[in-house]
Amino acid sequence: MRTPPPASAAHSRATTKCPYAGPALDAADPAFAADPYPFYAALRDNGPAAQVLLANGSKAWLVTGYDQVRTVLADGRFSNVPPRDAGRPKPDSPAQRVRALLVRHMLNTDAPDHTRLRRLVTATFTPRRVDALRPRIQELTAELLRDIPRGTEVDLVNAFAFPLPVLVISEVLGVPPTDRSALREWTYRVGSPADALPPGSLDEAWSSLHAFFSSLIEDKRRSPGSDLFSSLVHTELNSDELLAMAFLLLFAGYETTMNLLASAVLLLLSHPDELEEPHWPHVVEETLRHASPLEAATWRRTVEDVWLGGQHVPAGASVLGVLAAASRDPSRYPEPDVFRPQRWAGLGAPPSLAFGHGPHYCIGARLARLEALISLPALFEALPGMRLAMDPAQLPYRPGLLVRGPRTLPVRTHQSSRTPPPQGHAHA
Ligand code: HEM
Repeated sequence: MRTPPPASAAHSRATTKCPYAGPALDAADPAFAADPYPFYAALRDNGPAAQVLLANGSKAWLVTGYDQVRTVLADGRFSNVPPRDAGRPKPDSPAQRVRALLVRHMLNTDAPDHTRLRRLVTATFTPRRVDALRPRIQELTAELLRDIPRGTEVDLVNAFAFPLPVLVISEVLGVPPTDRSALREWTYRVGSPADALPPGSLDEAWSSLHAFFSSLIEDKRRSPGSDLFSSLVHTELNSDELLAMAFLLLFAGYETTMNLLASAVLLLLSHPDELEEPHWPHVVEETLRHASPLEAATWRRTVEDVWLGGQHVPAGASVLGVLAAASRDPSRYPEPDVFRPQRWAGLGAPPSLAFGHGPHYCIGARLARLEALISLPALFEALPGMRLAMDPAQLPYRPGLLVRGPRTLPVRTHQSSRTPPPQGHAHA
C-alpha cells in the first residue's frame, strides 16, 4: 500500500484551516495538472471511493475504481443536476446569469428532461451524418499539414491539435471561419479555475459566448445551412435550450478532441517503437485510456444515501467519477501506466470509459475517433522524422480536474517532410 496521496502546495494551508484530516487536492497546482496519476493511484490504494478536501475548502468524493466509476455514471441515484437548482441564491451579475443559462445543457440534466433533449440530438447526430464529414475532415487535415513549416520548431497544439477539432466542430455548428480563434479563447477560459485567470476574464468569456451563440442561432433561423446545428435550430428546442446546446457541443466537442490528438502525438513520439507499424485504431484506444482527454466526468450529486466501494456516501454529496483513474485501474488494465496499443488486440481490454458510460455516453465519440483516425496517420506521414523539441516532463498542462492535455507540444520538423496532396490524403 502506498503512502496517502501527496500533499499539494495548498494541502498544508488548507488542512491548517480545517479540521478535516483526509487527503487534500489543489487542482490548480501545475505539478498535479502535469501528472495526477500518482495521486489517484494512492487514493485508489485506500479504496475505490474516497473523500478529499478541495482547495476551495469544500469536500468531495473522488471515485477511482473502474467498476465504481461505471456505477456513478449509470446509476440514477447520482444526479447530474447541479446544486444551483436546489435552492441556491440567484446569480447576481449579467455574466453569472449568462453562465447559469449556458450551463443548463443536457449534460446537466436527468431524465426525463435529459431523455427528451438527447433524443433530438441523436436524431441529428446519426452515424451516417457523422461519417459524411469524412471528406471534409480529410481536406481540413491536408490544409493544416500543408501549412506546417518544415525544418524548424513548431507547436503542434497550435498548428494541428487545436485547429482541427475547432474547424470540425465549427463545421458541425456552421460557425464562420473569422470567429473561430475567439471561440477557442473563450472556451479555454470557461474551462479553467477562476483563480488561474486574470480578474474579470472569466465573466467576459461567458458574456462573449452568449452574444456569439445568440447571433449564430438568429442567423440559422433566417438561413439554415447544411450543418448539423441548423437541423437542431429547426426542432422543438426553444432559444435557451439551443444556446445551451451550442455551448455544450462546442465545449464537449473540441477541447476533448484537441487533448486526444495532442496526447496521441506526444505518446507516439515518446514511444518511437509504436510508430514502426502502428495499428491506428489501437493507438487511438490506448491514448484514450492512457491519457484520458476528460480527466473526470462531470460532477454528480447523490440523491440518497449510497454504498459505493464499501464506503457510505451520504445524500447530497458531490461525487466525481475520475475517468483517468478508472482507465488506469490495475484490476482491469494490467500494468496500467504502460502505453501499449497492443492491449486492444483480440478480445481486447475492458470497454473504454474515456467517452463515459450510461445515459450521458458521449454523443461525439464516433466523430472524435473519426478525426483521430484520419488526422494522426496523415500527420505522421506528412512529417516523417519529426521529434519532440521539449522534455515531456516539462510540458505545461491545463489546470483543473475536468479536461487534461498538454497546452503546448513543441516538435522539430524535418526539412524534407512531405507536403500532402491538395485534395487531402487520409488513411483511416
Ligand atoms: C476525444 C474526444 C471526446 C471525449 C474524450 C469525450 C468524452 C465525453 C464524456 C466522458 C462524456 C460524458 C460525461 C459525463 O457523463 O459526465 C461526454 C458527453 C458528451 N459529449 Fe463528448 N467527448 C469527446 C468528443 C466529443 C465531440 C466531438 C462531441 C460533439 C461533437 C461531444 C459531445 C458530447 C455531448 C453532447 C455530451 C453529453 C451527452 C449527454 O449528456 O447525454 N463529445 N463526452
